[in-house]
Amino acid sequence: MRTLRQSLLFPELSGELGIPKPVNVASVPQRSPFRYPGGKTWFVPTFRQWLGSKHAKPSVLVEPFAGGGIISLTALFENLVEKAVMVELDEEIAAVWESIVHGDAEWLANRVLTFNLTKESVMRELQKNPGTRREKAFQTILKNRTFHGGILAEGSGFLKYGENGKGIHSRWYPGTLAKRILNLKHVANRIDFRCDDGPKVIQEFAINQAAVFFIDPPYTAGKKKAGKRLYRHYDLDHEHLFTLCKKLKGDFLMTYDNAEEVKRMARSHSFQMRLIPMTNTHHATMEELVIGKDLSWMDGFPAVHEPDTEYKTRATKRKQTYKSLKRNIA
Ligand SMILES: C[S@@+](CC[C@H](N)C(=O)[O-])C[C@H]1O[C@@H](n2cnc3c(N)ncnc32)[C@H](O)[C@@H]1O
Repeated sequence: MRTLRQSLLFPELSGELGIPKPVNVASVPQRSPFRYPGGKTWFVPTFRQWLGSKHAKPSVLVEPFAGGGIISLTALFENLVEKAVMVELDEEIAAVWESIVHGDAEWLANRVLTFNLTKESVMRELQKNPGTRREKAFQTILKNRTFHGGILAEGSGFLKYGENGKGIHSRWYPGTLAKRILNLKHVANRIDFRCDDGPKVIQEFAINQAAVFFIDPPYTAGKKKAGKRLYRHYDLDHEHLFTLCKKLKGDFLMTYDNAEEVKRMARSHSFQMRLIPMTNTHHATMEELVIGKDLSWMDGFPAVHEPDTEYKTRATKRKQTYKSLKRNIA
């Protein structure tokens, strides 16, 4: 563990030490029309490794907290699964996925290509009451690309400086975006999108042995509650989610922030845990938790066992007993 921590302070050393380095997201095909806060592009190589370790191709991937959907899209484009059930509670995000799945990808791509983006034109567009689902989808893409951090939750605002001081233009690449949206037509008929509650849909697939689940909930289980600032829907019964996972016949992977509360829940359900390095939006290297039934395929990553505090308590207790024993003898 100490060597991993050291390597995170000095990432250039981790290769030499044989410890996994954070994934360079530029090496992963960007297939989502979103720049998603808390997005899992960096997890794609590990996700591929997970499905690659299976004997048979899973018939369905269930992604109950789909967000920008990079994991489902990768699974579909790379033929790692037959179909994907993508679930997202946020109606704005849902409007984008529904438009793509229900035949409006071309309209959306064209709207992106022909929009003349200025701060005024964006403000005018966002003041409109979207009369149709596809118009709502366009507004969502516009917000996601011009708001700070791609955050759509209450309190978010326009990018001030953005990349190289380009302000709201810095994440608006109409050609690339339109291409990505059109490309999704190739997999749209294999997506079963639901604007629904993720845990409810997990239950629906619980007895399906050929289903796999990629579960990336809002990070609100620990004290820090990072997800609260990022998403409109962040309130979640994490304990219930863990209980549901315990009942799954198929395999699952969960990703979480490295919080004590999360590790406690994982331990109490006898799940395995691994720490995986990633680079956050501020270019800092940190560790996230991967949780699953059997993570032996992740052997290169450090495992998480007992909490530090428990070791300390036990060590102190042992010391005290020794001391009191000496006192008793004296
Ligand atoms: C950590 S993000 C998922 C990011 C996604 N894995 C990606 O790569 O873009 C969690 C998502 O769960 C959604 N969410 C929160 N509560 C939900 C619920 N009960 N059911 C479905 N989605 C929910 C949030 O709106 C947010 O988009």
